[in-house]
Amino acid sequence: MSKTIIAPSVLSADFSKLGDEVESVVKAGADWIHLDVMDGHFVPNITFGPPVIKAIRNRTDKIFDCHLMIAPADPYLAAFADAGCDYITVHAEAGPHLDRSLQTIRALGKKAGVSLNPSTHESAIDYVLDRLDLILLMTVNPGFGGQAFIPAVIEKVARIKKMIGTRKIDIEIDGGVTPETAPLLTAAGANVLVAGSAVFKGGETQYASNIAAIRAVADAAAL
Ligand code: DX5
Ligand code: ZN
Repeated sequence: MSKTIIAPSVLSADFSKLGDEVESVVKAGADWIHLDVMDGHFVPNITFGPPVIKAIRNRTDKIFDCHLMIAPADPYLAAFADAGCDYITVHAEAGPHLDRSLQTIRALGKKAGVSLNPSTHESAIDYVLDRLDLILLMTVNPGFGGQAFIPAVIEKVARIKKMIGTRKIDIEIDGGVTPETAPLLTAAGANVLVAGSAVFKGGETQYASNIAAIRAVADAAAL
């Protein structure tokens, strides 16, 4: 049993056949499916929303890990829950009432996550730890796949691992995850790795070896 959960981001998939791509990465060993929702306002890019997620929901039973890069998020949480997301993650920077957003997600029967941009201090989540199932640390500035990893966040991973203590909260990393960066992250305490370009590069025949390459080094270095 692998210690590390690998969550391919379909942002790097071929959108013209998104359902097939989901099936392919699951067959290739994906543990979760990471869904990057962007609004062209909180981040400078636009992707997809609840109808697209709903359309691919029947392609797998794997966890749908929904990363909302939208502001405001609260008016749309119910729609993402209805679409079949299992984890719903909001950005701490996206609104003034993080505690309310997290309560709303759990009230919808979903796992609640918070994401922090690379420049956001971990103190932003000090008072909501008991409302969290997942903390998503961005290791790039959100908006695009294929960006360079920001190493300063590794120290934040270790600090957050200490902060959460015995609570059962996943620490997920998003941005620039590759076989080179993955072991640095699991060694610091991360247990869920999102990867877009590093999984989808080379086409369908490479997905399994791309996932296996990240998993092997990540597990070997994991705490
Ligand atoms: C960026 C997204 C990421 C992105 C990661 O805003 O949240 O999930 O797809 O892409 P890579 O793995 O290519 O850095
Ligand atoms: Zn993401």
